[in-house]
Amino acid sequence: MTLPDKKVFIKTYGCQMNVYDSNKMIDILAPLGYTPTERPEVADMVVINTCHIREKASEKTFSELGRLSLFKKRKQAIGQDMVIAVTGCVAQAEGEEIQRRAPFVDIVVGPQTYHRLGAMVKDVLSTKKKNLDIEFPVESKFDFLPEKSLIQGVSAFLSVQEGCDKFCSFCVVPYTRGVEYSRSVSDILAEAQRLVDHGAREIVLLGQNVNAYHGEALSSNKINENLNNIGTQTECNLAGLLKYLDKIENIKRLRYTTSHPLDMTQDLINVHQSIEKLMPFLHLPVQSGSNAVLQRMNRQYSVDDYYKIINELRKVRSDLALSSDFIVGFPGETDRDFKQTIELIQNIEFAQAYSFKYSIRPGTPGSLMDDQVEEHVKTERLEELQALLKQQQKNYNQKFVHQKLPVLFEKQGKYKNQYVGKTPYMQSVHVESKENLIGHLKEIWIAESHSNSFKGQLMGDM
Ligand code: 5AD
Ligand code: SF4
Repeated sequence: MTLPDKKVFIKTYGCQMNVYDSNKMIDILAPLGYTPTERPEVADMVVINTCHIREKASEKTFSELGRLSLFKKRKQAIGQDMVIAVTGCVAQAEGEEIQRRAPFVDIVVGPQTYHRLGAMVKDVLSTKKKNLDIEFPVESKFDFLPEKSLIQGVSAFLSVQEGCDKFCSFCVVPYTRGVEYSRSVSDILAEAQRLVDHGAREIVLLGQNVNAYHGEALSSNKINENLNNIGTQTECNLAGLLKYLDKIENIKRLRYTTSHPLDMTQDLINVHQSIEKLMPFLHLPVQSGSNAVLQRMNRQYSVDDYYKIINELRKVRSDLALSSDFIVGFPGETDRDFKQTIELIQNIEFAQAYSFKYSIRPGTPGSLMDDQVEEHVKTERLEELQALLKQQQKNYNQKFVHQKLPVLFEKQGKYKNQYVGKTPYMQSVHVESKENLIGHLKEIWIAESHSNSFKGQLMGDM
């Protein structure tokens, strides 16, 4: 039976978790005959995969929907149709509002239930009935997602953990993604093997709170001969999981993101020394350098705890590149608190970082706090903080100029014969080569450093 040739356009907002989910949705829709397109105006189906974490997410979603409703009307005028689906965290948080304000939307599905997307599309096509599915189900969506994940490249995401129980007082994730859930080791290893079979050479383990990972361990009868038994407990932590993945042939690099300082256990710190494939780059958000602010954020660690973790990490891996998230203007943040954040940045020296003005997320404890910081103060603080981080990133990158680095090539560049890869420390490198470098790990001489990337020259095979 040949499948109908239909096009789906997926617009993804937000984090890598959402990118991962969008890829899975493409897999889910493939058996119904949908292939991806870059052009929403010609699509038979459009998915907006939303993020609620920082941006003015709901306004953005509604304005995007307004644009799409015109495309839909145009298609309907010529006797065709366009199925419109809103997925992700805004769908979860504002499902009913979407149905009310944008009645032309056919499907609203939260991040925990999108494995039902295929059935929902079939339902809409056959009955023309609208569909809303935003509950937190008892079953795990991972048990229902399609097996294949063909469309990822050399560097592939693998979701190992979802949701969060930390309840930082600024954050909406525990309310939109639900409680912490870890996939089993056997599921993850099977998915890793499939990714490798389809060309992945780097695996990036994903989770909102990835280092809280505590999945079901392998039962002894499932242990593959190549994967020596690591521990006999019923639960496996992230360090244990990384040890298993280390054994998969053809995985050249491992990374994980995003971590919480509270779950940075000593055995996880230790694998940064013992697992060579684990790249020396860690995104470990600190958010603020003031104990008073950290306490109001409910981060559950002090500035001192953070320094101690970084010291331990640098002891085992002195070249570790550090990345962080910062929020400025959290309710009650004084000039002194902010200065302490600047001091922390000066002391640690980050290779890169993300920084944001605090923005109220309705329903979170932060939204109810007195002493909201004025917008212009947030703007000034963010500018100062970003200028410092930018300077640190520049200094950090400059150190690699005229040095050799191993680079794993992921894709073609903008220009002919240009390839783009990543260093162990996450910098992008652009290299010219007549030979196709994609999927290869090569020794590269770093010729120049630009704001966000390097220009390099090929030295030879690794
Ligand atoms: N305001 C500003 N930044 C936020 N983040 C999460 N919630 C908010 C908010 N309400 C930032 C944090 C987090 C990153 C993913 O997004 O720094 O680590
Ligand atoms: Fe949000 Fe905090 Fe959980 Fe991170 S650890 S997802 S910031 S609640």
